[in-house]
Amino acid sequence: MTLTGLQEGVDRILEGGGSDEEILQGVVEALEQLVEHYSWVGIYLVDGDDLVLGPWRGPQATEHVRIPIGQGVCGAAAASGETEVVDDVNADPRYLACFPSTRSEIVVPIFDEGRVVGEIDIDSDRAAAFGENDRAVLERIALQIGPHCRFGVATD
Ligand code: SME
Repeated sequence: MTLTGLQEGVDRILEGGGSDEEILQGVVEALEQLVEHYSWVGIYLVDGDDLVLGPWRGPQATEHVRIPIGQGVCGAAAASGETEVVDDVNADPRYLACFPSTRSEIVVPIFDEGRVVGEIDIDSDRAAAFGENDRAVLERIALQIGPHCRFGVATD
């Protein structure tokens, strides 16, 4: 499956409609299933000063279900509004470990009306798995799903 195919799959999910939660769940499933080097895919949503894990898809749950903005690679991307690409997670002191198999990570902020409302977080079991094509497709998908990140997330 190419990244172009992924874009088409996401377009179909958005055209298909449904609740915001269903749409985001469909998007994370498409990302995890269609792209071989995406090992774990989650969407974090901004809740006050934190990021809270929303829909996700992968072999294992993460313990990092709430991350303060500014902490970890996820928190850095939310604070700056810039995509973070980490080629070697073990060499990045900001990295909050979730899965022993993860080698690289990309975090793409999601905007709605100019504000960061969430982010797409993808782990890969392959080192330096994320290139310019991944960044471009994921930033486009992040723009498309921004308006679907308005539902409340469960807070603990
Ligand atoms: N690695 C992230 C935490 C989230 S897990 O990858 C699912 C970070 O450093 O912020």
